[in-house]
Amino acid sequence: ISSLPKEKSQLSLYDGYWIPTWSMPGVLAFQKYFQARETDILLVTPPKAGTTWFKAILFALVNRMRYLDLQEHPLLTNISHALVPLLDVDIYNKKKVPDLNSFASPRLFATHLPFDLLPTSVKGSSCKIVYVCRNPKDNFVSLWHFMNRVYSTTNSLEEDFDKFCRGVSLYGPYWDHVLSYWKPIIEKQAQKILFLKYEEMKEQPTTHLKRIAEFLECPFSPEEDAKGTINDILQLCSFDNLSNLDVNKSGKWRFPEHNNTLFRQGIDHASFFRKGNSGDWVNYFTPQMTERLDHIIEEKFHGTGLKF
Ligand code: A3P
Repeated sequence: ISSLPKEKSQLSLYDGYWIPTWSMPGVLAFQKYFQARETDILLVTPPKAGTTWFKAILFALVNRMRYLDLQEHPLLTNISHALVPLLDVDIYNKKKVPDLNSFASPRLFATHLPFDLLPTSVKGSSCKIVYVCRNPKDNFVSLWHFMNRVYSTTNSLEEDFDKFCRGVSLYGPYWDHVLSYWKPIIEKQAQKILFLKYEEMKEQPTTHLKRIAEFLECPFSPEEDAKGTINDILQLCSFDNLSNLDVNKSGKWRFPEHNNTLFRQGIDHASFFRKGNSGDWVNYFTPQMTERLDHIIEEKFHGTGLKF
């Protein structure tokens, strides 16, 4: 692991990716100790690509038979991060290696790690990976807001944009992260990855929720179709609904024993909900920024069939 002291963001370059330095013990423990089950479901996202949203969607989808009464649904009183933990950040970042054997199957977990850094036990198992990425421009804008609000960084938009373009961002380079999950699909090595974009879920939520359900081998039955279950899940997990719940407006995401001060003090749940739209980047980018990032996107994704 080599750290660049000049980069104030406290990121460490680990196997080509910029990982938060404080989370490295958790990453290494996750890689070393996690034993995947074939029934496991892993949500993977670059930060700010819709983790909070897709955690809610996957939780509601997979547990829909358990929580038939929507008025009593756990998502009404818990932020989705409390229901679907990040393995390296929330679970393995403790002094004692946790025992995950007692978790009932299917276990639902999340991580921000790129494919290359997943534990061998995950890569070698047929567990399912739902990967969600986002238009890099919106992802950058969302990340910049989050870093300033939560990490109290005071970097200007221009400063952070320059770093993002150079690949220096949480779990970046962004394009390498995306391609690390896209390449196994196009090389037909991975049947177990479902690749989604934030924008497509926004545009055609029903289609993509059905796609996710089929991929996870829990498709909606005709009875559920008739009952409107798909719509219920989408409504429950919508930005308007989640961002207006008391738990998400006022709570804090806190781990009293976490090795990171920020997590000990707590992150406002509200900071995970900002606008929840596609295309906000137009309000922030100058023509020069657009040109620079378009050029990078064109170069990095050229010939891969992936477009943003
Ligand atoms: P914006 O900052 O563009 O509004 P993450 O969960 O990975 O941290 O990503 C946060 C981004 O997802 C934020 O984007 C946030 O507003 C948006 N988001 C949170 N909940 C959402 C939901 N239910 N539907 C759509 N977007 C949501």
